[in-house]
Amino acid sequence: MNKTIGSVPAPTSPSMSLHTFIRHLPKAELHLHIEGTLEPELIFALAQRNGITLPYASIEALRTAYQFQDLQSFLNLYYAGASVLITENDFYDMTMAYMQRARQDGVVHAEIMFDPQTHTQRGIPMQTVFAGIARALREMRSSAGISSCLILSFLRHLSEEEADATLTAALPLREAYADLWTAVGLDSAEQGNPPEKFARVYARCKALGLRLTAHAGEEGPADYVRDALDLLQVERIDHGVRSEEDPALMQRLIRDRIPLTVCPLSNLKLCVVDDMHQHNLARLLRQGIMVTINSDDPAYFGGYIGDNYLACAEHLGLTRKELAELAGNSLIASFLPQSEKDRYLKQLSEIAI
Ligand code: ADE
Ligand code: ZN
Repeated sequence: MNKTIGSVPAPTSPSMSLHTFIRHLPKAELHLHIEGTLEPELIFALAQRNGITLPYASIEALRTAYQFQDLQSFLNLYYAGASVLITENDFYDMTMAYMQRARQDGVVHAEIMFDPQTHTQRGIPMQTVFAGIARALREMRSSAGISSCLILSFLRHLSEEEADATLTAALPLREAYADLWTAVGLDSAEQGNPPEKFARVYARCKALGLRLTAHAGEEGPADYVRDALDLLQVERIDHGVRSEEDPALMQRLIRDRIPLTVCPLSNLKLCVVDDMHQHNLARLLRQGIMVTINSDDPAYFGGYIGDNYLACAEHLGLTRKELAELAGNSLIASFLPQSEKDRYLKQLSEIAI
């Protein structure tokens, strides 16, 4: 039977190319920073629209600057890039561009992180950020059938008081965006900013009924993964690749089926791994960890979610069955209601491998 995944027709056949097979897998993107989807072309267009002069002569010169030694060297450029976002339309255009790209990759559901502090610190009203992103997500929900939710993420290099004030400032918007804003996250510079720094604001979020996730074990140690689980009570871990350094933690992740939202091309670009062949994603999956594949900041890391699946297939020898398992994990690990998960998982089970 012919089904539609986003705009992509299914079913598959075993003879189709790996690229096409991956595109046809119904999948959720669970680890995506919307500010990390700003392509250099859009950065230049928005800068021009808003009368901002960039310290780069051309789009190509900006793209050439995307050489990172670590997370911080990336974050410096990422926050600079986000400074071209001024109006509601800017946030709309950025989000729409990502959603259209995600649709081509067979994303049926996107859980999108955004960093309000990056914008409110520059004097952009919280409402402008919410309104622009939400308009694009709602349009894509009704026009393309792609569901989504928002993960309001706190910047961990700032204080817990500032995170708490951000939450307080966002709460009056909760009702207006109840269909989208359902979760909080924790991102930015990990080392030296441990989970315990945010234990009180996370307790407040939990009491408010928000879903909880946090970056941990990207550059930071396995201890941060354990502390994110114990002290922040998160349901899943963003990255978590360094969990492998702690066998007891690994057993816990397997036993409790705690999802890791892994971003392979990000890990490569930020030198978390030296080479894609060395990435531990396949090993984690084969040990029984609930691994998912995501793109993190695709405009900066050289690939969207489909490219991340393909890179893993090609460099880690993942089989088509394993690729389908990873897509299934993304649906299971999502914040979707069970009935929606079941619907997509059924579509996935009908795919010929
Ligand atoms: N913000 C955007 N991308 C990030 C990443 N990979 N780690 C931490 N914070 C981020
Ligand atoms: Zn991230």
